Amino acid sequence: MAYWDVTSKIIETPNNELAVLGFKGKKISDPIHVASKHVKAFTHFVETHYVFTNEGSGLTVDYYFSRFDEVLAALDPEYVRQHGIFFTDDNLSKFALWFVERYFFGRHTEESLNDYIVFDPAGGSGNLVTSWRGHLRHKIVSELQPDLLKVIEKRMRQDPYHIETGFTIIPKTVTNQGLNFLDRAADDYMNEIERVLAEKSLRMDKPLAFLLNPPYKSTDENEDNRTDKAANYGVHASITAHTGEDAAKERYLTFVAQILNICQRQVHQSPDLQPLLLIFTPTSWLIPRPTYAGFRRIFDAHFQYEDGFVVTSNEFFKLQGRWPVAFTLWRYKPDPDRQNHVTVRDLTNLTARQLFRFDWNAPAELLDGLLEPVMEKAQVVNLGRERQTVRELSNQPRYNSYRNLTKQESGQTFVSGFPKDDSRHKKLKVPYGFVDGTFIGFMDDNTPVRLKQEVNNRHSEFPNRVWFSPRLQKH
Ligand SMILES: C[S@@+](CC[C@H](N)C(=O)[O-])C[C@H]1O[C@@H](n2cnc3c(N)ncnc32)[C@H](O)[C@@H]1O
Repeated sequence: MAYWDVTSKIIETPNNELAVLGFKGKKISDPIHVASKHVKAFTHFVETHYVFTNEGSGLTVDYYFSRFDEVLAALDPEYVRQHGIFFTDDNLSKFALWFVERYFFGRHTEESLNDYIVFDPAGGSGNLVTSWRGHLRHKIVSELQPDLLKVIEKRMRQDPYHIETGFTIIPKTVTNQGLNFLDRAADDYMNEIERVLAEKSLRMDKPLAFLLNPPYKSTDENEDNRTDKAANYGVHASITAHTGEDAAKERYLTFVAQILNICQRQVHQSPDLQPLLLIFTPTSWLIPRPTYAGFRRIFDAHFQYEDGFVVTSNEFFKLQGRWPVAFTLWRYKPDPDRQNHVTVRDLTNLTARQLFRFDWNAPAELLDGLLEPVMEKAQVVNLGRERQTVRELSNQPRYNSYRNLTKQESGQTFVSGFPKDDSRHKKLKVPYGFVDGTFIGFMDDNTPVRLKQEVNNRHSEFPNRVWFSPRLQKH
């Protein structure tokens, strides 16, 4: 992307490899190995196409980098699935950081993210840390996937702003290795980070601000798929000690537990620091669902909830299914008695298209003016509100209209309570209702079905509920 414009030519390197020379000969790509039988076609393809960019409309080289997850997904969909590689929409990343500045630091006037070391341990192609130009002065990115680390490096290097302000990618890309955030103790992990920083004469002299969108991957499924894709690593015992085995199946929760350990370590070393956690996650642990309640007790004793919003999953992430994704802000501030109640601003109607329109380089006041109306419309919802299921409210089990076939019915054509011409008389093996049922229920496609009274006497003719009286006809 960074080399391929309308002027690009293919050149041969001394090792008989190819390279793309672009931007009127000013930029040259890494060498690319192309089998000799494809060289002609490859050269023709590159030289007769180019990557269209347009600063004004937001189609920048950087924008293409931000969608590198889609390239990986086309090459190896199972790897992408097993490691939860789906990147945060570039504009949502910018919006999230605008939100942090306006709604969190807005209240703590003197401070900004420039006072922190912003650290994304699952950086993908770097969308979160590269997005907020001018606002993140000290940034560290790490990743499990070595190819992605290289992409982050290329992305930062093609942008003079990042070269000027500096960035640290760990591990260094020359080692061709990624760094696993979960398979080692916080001490080991941070020693590695500090070692690389020391080589650059840098120190961990500021509070950490974890900024991340961890993989939302449940490991509660077929193990073979993970083994094939090197996704079957063990999560370190110091992490599962917080989450328990069940909750540890959710990768994002193990990320949160490891962050807790790292913040604890940093504050142990420098008691005046108050690290931050800025994180995209599903909402289950925020409610919290029963599986996560134990972990939340531990987490709440360390972190204070500050603010957050929810958006809709498949609007901003290449994810299947439509569910709320939360971006929440937490401050490390231990208090053994704390119980956080999470309220978030409901932005589930926000669309990717809406955010694509913004010029994020516009002056802060202008951005505030444009984005403020979006926030004003958002309702504040209480995720922790006690909610009972229908089963708990009614104290009754679910009613099923299907049942076992009786001996007398076996071999008969009509055993269900569907209308006579309904194809399900033939298609379905188990009967639904009864041919001579005296109540009417409805299938989920609204087809009426004859039912008989059930064990809890829920069917009735009382006038304060909807009921139908079928007239039985002889067929
Ligand atoms: C949901 S993506 C988010 C990427 C990026 N932060 C963003 O928002 O665009 C999660 C990333 O975590 C990386 N990852 C998965 N497991 C990891 C692990 N155990 N340690 C470090 N990174 C990991 C994946 O390779 C993937 O790039």
